[in-house]
Amino acid sequence: MNILILGSGGREHALAWAVKQNPKCDRLIAAPGNAGMADIAECASLDIMDGSAVVTFAEENAIDFVIVGPEAPLAVGVADDLRNAGILCFGPSAEAAKLEASKAFTKEICDAANAPTAAYARFTEAEPAKAYIREQGAPIVVKADGLAAGKGVIVAMTEEEALAGIDDMFSGEFGDAGAEVVIEEFMDGEEASYFILCDGKTALPVGTAQDHKRAYDNDEGPNTGGMGAYSPAPVLTDAIAERAMAEIVRPTVAEMAKRGTPFQGVLYAGFMIKDGQARLVEYNVRFGDPECQVLMMRLGAQALDLLLACAEGKLDEAQVNWADDHAISVVMAANGYPGSYEKGTVISGLDQISEDSMNMVFHAGTTAKDGKVTATGGRVLNVTARGDNLAEARKRAYAMVDQIDWPEGFNRSDIGWRAL
Ligand code: AMP
Ligand code: GLY
Repeated sequence: MNILILGSGGREHALAWAVKQNPKCDRLIAAPGNAGMADIAECASLDIMDGSAVVTFAEENAIDFVIVGPEAPLAVGVADDLRNAGILCFGPSAEAAKLEASKAFTKEICDAANAPTAAYARFTEAEPAKAYIREQGAPIVVKADGLAAGKGVIVAMTEEEALAGIDDMFSGEFGDAGAEVVIEEFMDGEEASYFILCDGKTALPVGTAQDHKRAYDNDEGPNTGGMGAYSPAPVLTDAIAERAMAEIVRPTVAEMAKRGTPFQGVLYAGFMIKDGQARLVEYNVRFGDPECQVLMMRLGAQALDLLLACAEGKLDEAQVNWADDHAISVVMAANGYPGSYEKGTVISGLDQISEDSMNMVFHAGTTAKDGKVTATGGRVLNVTARGDNLAEARKRAYAMVDQIDWPEGFNRSDIGWRAL
């Protein structure tokens, strides 16, 4: 079958790598793709936010299956356009993608599903929001309702911080995303993520993971899109995970179906875990980046069968063949990230690394020019390894990091510390 992957990050490289290993995959196209994906897929330039352009491209290239990587095209209905054109697609409708695109919507679904999450209130004006904060006190969490590229959440340790956050949100800094604000109870605990494939009716977990949000070692520095991940996350034990499926995930899937907007794709549930129970922090409607890299490393070729079963509504017949393994991914980012950084710097040493089913460097922001790989983004490489245990996988990943020569880049040296 001919497969099209939309996106250009490490997440999409990992998806392409797994899908390509499955004998069902004939032709693989990545749009727009990156230098790493170019080794295993044809890269095509395409505006992935333009649903009709994506449909036309898929028809012209006889694409049988489209996998949508990032949330932005999902939120504008690219998956709807594909399905309306009769093209099989992995990823939720725009209506179902509201689980990520609107925090207030997710809270409403949690209420209807009776799912454990932080207490909250919604506001469209600053004064009542501030009055609520004064009444509740700190710590407290202020969130822009809409998609804000990971910047719309203020975990305020003081009342002043929360009040200033309200001014920022209503000042228009977040555009439409900040037109409504959700104020939440602060939840204490340890965070972990759970990835669950859903075909509208059936929910099938495909793994747990933990991300590292802060830029520097010891969880210091500014928040980023994620500096490294590992899977499984031991804090999300089987017992906690099963309870979360029963209390949070399956009721969400049922509520979405009941509303006539079934969720099809991957639900990425962010949990806060304390005293043996998970509470929902947020949903995303796509794989995490870099969490996807560790999940794909562990799933390998079966990922395509699972994504297909999901898109075809056949998850009740599917199963995950688990190996008792661990994977870790170390992000290499351009110096300065998540602030401003230089582009076009040269990365060498990649050709020294022997890649296989246990060791992979997934590319995020790279291009190949004159036989050289150059960095074009903030997060640039995801050095990923698998092993019988986390310590072994970690050792292998950092050995690869050592082989990469990129003076203009940096990485954390403590990925996986919580689990080790
Ligand atoms: P979100 O975009 O909703 O995941 O929020 C980003 C991050 O803010 C989360 O990963 C948590 O670390 C933190 N956060 C969000 N909501 C809460 C909450 N109610 N209590 C504590 N931390 C939170
Ligand atoms: N790594 C966090 C995310 O993908 O949202």
